[in-house]
Amino acid sequence: MKSSQPGIFKFAHLSDPHLTSLQHISWTTLLNKRIMGYISWKTHRRAEHRREVLDLLVDSLRHQDLDHIVITGDLTHLGLPEEFTEARLWLDSLKNIAEPTVIPGNHETYISTSYESTLKEWEPYFRSDDVTSKSDRSPSPKNFPSLRIRGPVVFIGLSTASPTLPFLATGTLDSEQLRQIETCLSLETLQPYFKVLLIHHPPLPHLVSWRKRLTNASQLQAVLNRHPVDLILHGHTHKSSLAYLNTPDQAIPVVGVPSASANGSRPGYESQYCLFSLNNTGKTFELSASLYSYFQEKEQFTFSRTLPINI
Ligand SMILES: [Fe+2]
Repeated sequence: MKSSQPGIFKFAHLSDPHLTSLQHISWTTLLNKRIMGYISWKTHRRAEHRREVLDLLVDSLRHQDLDHIVITGDLTHLGLPEEFTEARLWLDSLKNIAEPTVIPGNHETYISTSYESTLKEWEPYFRSDDVTSKSDRSPSPKNFPSLRIRGPVVFIGLSTASPTLPFLATGTLDSEQLRQIETCLSLETLQPYFKVLLIHHPPLPHLVSWRKRLTNASQLQAVLNRHPVDLILHGHTHKSSLAYLNTPDQAIPVVGVPSASANGSRPGYESQYCLFSLNNTGKTFELSASLYSYFQEKEQFTFSRTLPINI
């Protein structure tokens, strides 16, 4: 748990753990698009996404003196209610290290399901703070965007998860959420904070194939042009990346990490997490980022490289 230097806020970003086991599901739950996801899991994903790798990552987090952990979606494979419960227990277990904040990914809405039987399980880990002040006058959003102020940071969680046709893994921000993002980012209360946007699908189209894209990335970009954030964290690609989203005022760093449970059976896709240290000098913020990778031969996570982020 926490004992780091005053003024330094440390948080870890991981994504796409796909941590659930589908060993005991009934066939009746697969009589829809899920059958394809099940076959994919059975034939190759099960060999790549390993719980023991995720457990080693969590062990590594234990030694990082963290203030917070963010997880950018795809905790499940097929978005079954049982998987939400299994993932909730895992989220609960992280609290010994640092409080987690989670957002959903496309696998959480493999098919249309009720909020009550699925995402509600994770509510303690995305529930918004009441961040409004008298001058702001607008109510906090119900679910997403989720606004959570921790230390000098406001984490703004989005949900791009929406059911798609077979063979597509796209994401979409509905018009109400886009409207709310604009409202939230202009809240006076949030202006002193370092703004970190959490989104499963990368907001830059070139980072992902057409069938996996964020369908209305340009609408999000238009909002960010008016109200830029300081950092964007995403998952979905299962690859490590650093890019920039250019707005009139600043270039926003956009960081993606691979699946937290990937065992490296596909070269270049092995599990990593990113450790951020934010120094609040009182006048400005200084951010440093380090990648920690899974080394199969050593069966452990070790420092891999520094990410040269400009903010
Ligand atoms: Fe994923």
